[in-house]
Amino acid sequence: MSDPTAHTDVPADARSIVFSSYGEPEELRLTETPVPQPGPGQVLLRVRAAGVNPVDWKIRAGLLKDFFSVPLPHVPGLEGAGVVVALGEGVTARSVGDEVFGPITGAYAEYALADADRLAAKPADLTWEAAAGVYTSAETAARALDLLKVGAGETLLVHGAAGSVGGLVIQFAVAAGARVVGTASEANHDYLRELGAIPVVYGDGVFDRVREAAPEGVNAVLDAVGGAVAGSVELLGGPERVVSIVAPAEAESAGARFTGAGDGEDRTEQAHAQTLALHAAGTLNLPIRATFPLAEAAEAHRLSAQGHGRGKIVLLP
Ligand SMILES: NC(=O)c1ccc[n+]([C@@H]2O[C@H](COP(=O)([O-])OP(=O)(O)OC[C@H]3O[C@@H](n4cnc5c(N)ncnc54)[C@H](OP(=O)(O)O)[C@@H]3O)[C@@H](O)[C@H]2O)c1
Repeated sequence: MSDPTAHTDVPADARSIVFSSYGEPEELRLTETPVPQPGPGQVLLRVRAAGVNPVDWKIRAGLLKDFFSVPLPHVPGLEGAGVVVALGEGVTARSVGDEVFGPITGAYAEYALADADRLAAKPADLTWEAAAGVYTSAETAARALDLLKVGAGETLLVHGAAGSVGGLVIQFAVAAGARVVGTASEANHDYLRELGAIPVVYGDGVFDRVREAAPEGVNAVLDAVGGAVAGSVELLGGPERVVSIVAPAEAESAGARFTGAGDGEDRTEQAHAQTLALHAAGTLNLPIRATFPLAEAAEAHRLSAQGHGRGKIVLLP
């Protein structure tokens, strides 16, 4: 079935956020656009909540256009949660009415498309906001931990531990039996302790503080901030178990690894499984920093670009 209007009261046009040229947050305009039709393997979702990620404002600002270009005009948003309202050809694993979350194309919209087999069923007691904002961070966390091969009894250092990715890295690593030392500003130290990590203030002298916090030594390092790759390689005595998710050039010059979404290392299935296991155990901790109506997407981008604080920013279309 590829005609969404055949199912429910799906309109022909609906509201999306669109930018037509790279630039400031004001480029994000609320626009009435045709509701897309699901192709083979896709579903059409009525988006209930969309996660806002730092990569969204970096794309909008044109910072990534040399290696991650998007066709313009473009509807931003890579993740969210919603209700299935139409099925593309060949989709059997999902039904109209299913509540789902995961990767979504153009999620800053009332209606958007997703690959049916990359979505997870949303537990009824997981909020729309948390479900919308967990996928990208969880997939990144699962991918990084897998590449770092962090095992039980090992100590992991996370630079940028209070961010959305860092929070899930800590939770997944602790669940796997690892110890985690995380860097964050003082304001986020209680939060890191709540997640089971040992907090350390970042800035000058950070590696001395890490050595003090982990006298047993550090086995692996995840960089989710930048500026700390060379120091981390020195701390470990080699680059093999240092991964950056933000600084490709820095990683390359230190002989360490950079990983980016879409580089063939996708861990979607693993991320969903680990997220849902923590949720079922009642321990999943997903703070929401702020929610905005769709029309205030520019405000959401300004907040994300500040680069500090904790918790996911979410749009409610
Ligand atoms: N390569 C990939 O696949 C991939 C995937 C997802 C995200 N990313 C990137 O990873 C980064 C983190 O994403 P996110 O969603 O976690 O961001 P976020 O939720 O906005 O968090 C940013 C965090 O960085 C912390 N921070 C800022 N400066 C710091 C410093 N010098 N040292 C330590 N922590 C510092 C802040 O903590 P304080 O408030 O305590 O300062 C804040 O909690 C972004 O640059 C994003 O684009 C990459």
